[in-house]
Amino acid sequence: MTSDNNALENPGSVQELLIHGLAFIARPFDSNEILKGLLKGLRECTGSERADLLMFQSDMNILFFSESDTAAYDVDKPGNLSMADSKNSAPVKALSGGHTVLVDDVRESGLLSLSSGARTLLSVPVFFGERTHGVLNLEHNDAKAFDPEIIRWIQALGGLFAMLLERSWLSEQVFNLNQRLIDTMTETANETDPGFKAHAERVSSIAVAIAVQMDLGEETVDAVRDSGYLHDIGKSGVSQNILVKPGSLTLEEIDEVRKHPILGRFLLKPLGFQPAVIEGVASHHERWDGSGYPRGLKGDQIPITGRILAVAEAFDVMTSDQPYRKKMILEEAVIEIQSHSGEQFDPTVVDALLGINFKEL
Ligand SMILES: [Fe+2]
Repeated sequence: MTSDNNALENPGSVQELLIHGLAFIARPFDSNEILKGLLKGLRECTGSERADLLMFQSDMNILFFSESDTAAYDVDKPGNLSMADSKNSAPVKALSGGHTVLVDDVRESGLLSLSSGARTLLSVPVFFGERTHGVLNLEHNDAKAFDPEIIRWIQALGGLFAMLLERSWLSEQVFNLNQRLIDTMTETANETDPGFKAHAERVSSIAVAIAVQMDLGEETVDAVRDSGYLHDIGKSGVSQNILVKPGSLTLEEIDEVRKHPILGRFLLKPLGFQPAVIEGVASHHERWDGSGYPRGLKGDQIPITGRILAVAEAFDVMTSDQPYRKKMILEEAVIEIQSHSGEQFDPTVVDALLGINFKEL
């Protein structure tokens, strides 16, 4: 358990556990770690034999054991509970009925427990609005182990589970939507500029490897990944005749192509991409010595995403066949990039490129 969720250990009471758990709602968190910590705290402060979080999987109509905390050391998670075939289990009864199921003595109830010595069963359904997440489940080896007041607090804790699970679900939806948006944009651009998508994927992959090598942290690595896919998206606002024109471009045509970083920012801003992604796209043609475009930024003025993309894109162009020349071998390209370190490229980014194992890309 990390220091952030140490607060969940030995809470003393369900009320204390709830108060500590609520603090995680507004923080970045590792969902699995917090849920595990809450289950452990709940089992310990209620003296229960086991505490489980079962998640509802609607396509298979089952409850599966997402996290479990048990008093025994060597107990595996039980198998899934089928909503159709396990109607005599408290978790299935709670979820299908939409309300808490309390069994004061399992020997008199006819319901099945998960652990052999259990007497009291408590299953609290976990909903958020119309969305069914699962069931919070407790089993205690004493009969009548939970009084009405503690049950109310455990139900409130079920509400906390619902909020945490809803937050994770929403993050996943935003991530998936973001990915679909990027896929759609790159595929559309590829229709008018063949090779766009393959180049974008390679640049993204090299840029991510550089960012990881620089130990920049998950958030920046994610921004570098998305920015890599989208770095040339502004070219969809440039005339196709120019993009596919064989031979050299006129000065006017070069000016037109050079608008693509700004067009990229213009396109991405209203779509809600992270500022680091947008700024990476807008600055990937800036140069370390200030001779780049569109703004002539210099050194650290250039966002780190843009500095990484500049190296990644140049490296990909050098190591891919171009209409005007054959591709370079990796070693030649690395030497070429190194020769522009401190002029065109940020030296720390170039150093990171040298540390990459290209066989793993
Ligand atoms: Fe570009």
